Amino acid sequence: PTVRSYEWTITEQTAAPDGLARPMLLVNGMFPGPLVEANTGDRIVVKVTNNLSKGTSIHWHGMFQNGTNWMDGTVGVTQCPIPPGQSFTYNFTVPNQWGTYWWHAHSQSQYLDGIVGPLIIHSPEEPQLNNYQEDIIMMVSDYYHTDSSSLISWYLSVDSQGTEPVPDNGLINGRNSFDCTLDSQSLFPTGLPCTSNAPKAEFDFKAGTTYRVRIINTGAFADFQFSIDNHTLTVIEADGIDMQPVDVQRLPIHVAQRYSALVHANQTVDNYWVRATMNTNCFNVPNPALNEFVTGIVRYEGASTTDLPKSVDWTASAWAPRCLDLTLDMLKPYFAQPAPDADVQVFITASFQTIRSDHMNLGYINETSWSPLPGNATIFQAQRGVTAFDPSQLIVTLNTTGVVEVVVSNFDEGSHPFHFHGHIFYVLGWGDGAYVPGKTQLELTNPLRRDTSTIPPFGYTVIRFVNDNPGMWAFHCHIDWHMAAGLMIQFESLPQDIKNFQIPPEMAAMCAAT
Ligand code: C2O
Repeated sequence: PTVRSYEWTITEQTAAPDGLARPMLLVNGMFPGPLVEANTGDRIVVKVTNNLSKGTSIHWHGMFQNGTNWMDGTVGVTQCPIPPGQSFTYNFTVPNQWGTYWWHAHSQSQYLDGIVGPLIIHSPEEPQLNNYQEDIIMMVSDYYHTDSSSLISWYLSVDSQGTEPVPDNGLINGRNSFDCTLDSQSLFPTGLPCTSNAPKAEFDFKAGTTYRVRIINTGAFADFQFSIDNHTLTVIEADGIDMQPVDVQRLPIHVAQRYSALVHANQTVDNYWVRATMNTNCFNVPNPALNEFVTGIVRYEGASTTDLPKSVDWTASAWAPRCLDLTLDMLKPYFAQPAPDADVQVFITASFQTIRSDHMNLGYINETSWSPLPGNATIFQAQRGVTAFDPSQLIVTLNTTGVVEVVVSNFDEGSHPFHFHGHIFYVLGWGDGAYVPGKTQLELTNPLRRDTSTIPPFGYTVIRFVNDNPGMWAFHCHIDWHMAAGLMIQFESLPQDIKNFQIPPEMAAMCAAT
């Protein structure tokens, strides 16, 4: 196969994405980090050198890693952190998938500090390939001015009373402006050097051209409604699965989800706002001031290059913000597949419990709050044939190939974007309240398939996946605060095959070093 090689160095350095200069963790000094781009069938080789003073790792979000589970990059599950001063080379092929993905650190909460970037896989099989001329990536994210470890310690302490840190700002492709006078009102005022009115992301449009806009939510916490004033979004892809084209004015996108939308540059030559409206009404402590902040600019060729857009939010009355995904009747896979019958059922509940007298609030799946075993990763235990894992690891073992149905029930007032590593799952249905078999009409003829799906507040989601990919696979809420609070479970798929894994010996050495 064709090899796509990258050499990355991760360093701590000061950067000012929105005008406030803060210490960040950057790959090759870039924010967002470098684009990884390949064709289906290619091999991706990334040599990562860690020049931080702490361990790190890179996860390739959405890659199946079939036969290379140890390249999944998940600290505590498929590897120990790459120690400071050392290098590790990720090396995997991309056999049978294409579309829009991303990569990020999967060590503590480091991706919020800057270790994040896009990952795009092309294929001649893509059904819309001839219906657009250019590709544009638009990453949207919430953004904090304070380093993620301080925010985590606060969130997991008595002080937060279980309330997630409210973002200071939001970014499009790592840029936005910020009113520096607001720093003093932040939960953690930084007092750092700050310049107001930093430039926003700009995108050049040529009248008559059709763009494939790839929207990726690379944030920690917030879901967004994405829109481009006066332009319809024709959604054609969700999380790497081609969709039957569907037109929307605004696109709800939760943390870690991706969509591609065709956008026709069919408007008057002018400048238009790109809006990532943060659904702050979904927070415990809303900050409506943030709603209007997160914008970029589409500039038609020939329009003024200095004027700001005058366009107004054309989606204002389209629908009320809901903190939920596009519905299943809107998102229909282009290549239809019926849901396979389930062989096994797994029931999991997600909740937050204050169990200690110090009021620390932790996330629980069933009765367990996950945290990584220091200096270890469960893949090594599985490879040795361990069957009695530490209960803190919450491992569901799936011994035989077959189809697994997972019913996730959410006993929390927040919505949770759950992601499954190494797999695409079928989303058969979701709704409010308790799941009672028969109550919900499950979509079985051609259900949505994706890798990150939002569980409604006090609701449930029913998914199925084919258990055919040996390894230790994390299944977790992708809201970074919730992952840190323990909202994560692991599936051990096909343990007999894991015993035969040829894990590079330097990976065990990384555990010894941490
Ligand atoms: Cu984006 Cu556990 O991953």
